[in-house]
Amino acid sequence: MTDRANQPTEDRTTAPEREHLVDRFGRVHRDLRVSVTDRCSLRCTYCMPEAGVPWLPRATMLSTDELIRLAGVAVSLGIEEIRLTGGEPLLRRDLVDVVAGMAALPGAPEISMTTNGVGLDKNAAALREAGLTRVNVSLDTLKRETFIELAKRDRLSDTLAGIEAAARAGLVPVKINTVLMRGVNDVEAPDLLAFALEHGYELRFIEQMPLDAQHQWDRSQMIIGEEILGWLRPHFDLTPQPDEARGSAPAELFLVNGGPATVGVIASVTMPFCGTCDRVRLTADGQVRNCLFATGETNLRDPMREGASDEELAQLFRESIGAKLPGHGINEPGFLQPPRPMSAIGG
Ligand code: 5AD
Ligand code: SF4
Repeated sequence: MTDRANQPTEDRTTAPEREHLVDRFGRVHRDLRVSVTDRCSLRCTYCMPEAGVPWLPRATMLSTDELIRLAGVAVSLGIEEIRLTGGEPLLRRDLVDVVAGMAALPGAPEISMTTNGVGLDKNAAALREAGLTRVNVSLDTLKRETFIELAKRDRLSDTLAGIEAAARAGLVPVKINTVLMRGVNDVEAPDLLAFALEHGYELRFIEQMPLDAQHQWDRSQMIIGEEILGWLRPHFDLTPQPDEARGSAPAELFLVNGGPATVGVIASVTMPFCGTCDRVRLTADGQVRNCLFATGETNLRDPMREGASDEELAQLFRESIGAKLPGHGINEPGFLQPPRPMSAIGG
């Protein structure tokens, strides 16, 4: 056996320490979520009303170069993974260029995407080629009628084609995100898991959070993590995975029928994971948000357009993280839903 500890591996005295975005509670931020557009091809009821959504004005939205520049500043501050979100990222015509630009940044961040899958069949290969590594696709139902009820658009087959194309293009592991709504798709929990197992997708159920534009979230109606497990247990043997394996990942994982397949439950509301949060968000109009539920934002767009240097923009990132609160406070009296809906923040 070689004693590796005695072997010089790299010169630690001269290698510059990479900066990290650390907040007052010691949380190191490695994950940047970039909402590239607030527009969407669907209208999921837990997110948007069917009509009358006030979109961000075009002129306030970041260009391809602006998105890549701000991502570069974040990477220089220790961000290792960039997740593109929306709205629906596929609605941006320059998405392939955004991915390519971010993947080529010094530090080579990992680029992933959360999408509803509509249109992904046409783009999966090009996105993979540009440097996208994996996708999370939202899928709440396998029934056409329920899809129309939930998402107000008749696009189930497009979403399914998108998921298949992602797997074929090697955007793996394909993760599926499901939000269960009482009396709408809750009965489908076992069918969705069976579907994911059959195709080798990793399914995660997410508790509905108070982030809908209509402000109709109702705690008493929300399907909580425990209840989701209750839907699954009659059909599957679920073994909790040890917590150490979880790290900063929000999903509590269960081995299904002895593994290796797993199912995740993201109990953001009833079992908050704020203590290990490593995420920071950038909106499509260039605002840094230190939490999904933050009520304040740090404007990077205007300083950038007025000529700020990378270092000045980095300082604004640091200030935002410095002001991060310990938790989202959903379960505290006086909780206020953020003024922006999920579609304008990015999952
Ligand atoms: N609560 C929980 N998850 C939500 N998503 C969108 N709105 C909500 C909400 N109010 C999910 C989408 C998608 C991801 C970005 O977040 O289904 O998978
Ligand atoms: Fe679109 Fe995602 Fe919102 Fe559904 S949840 S309307 S797919 S942004």
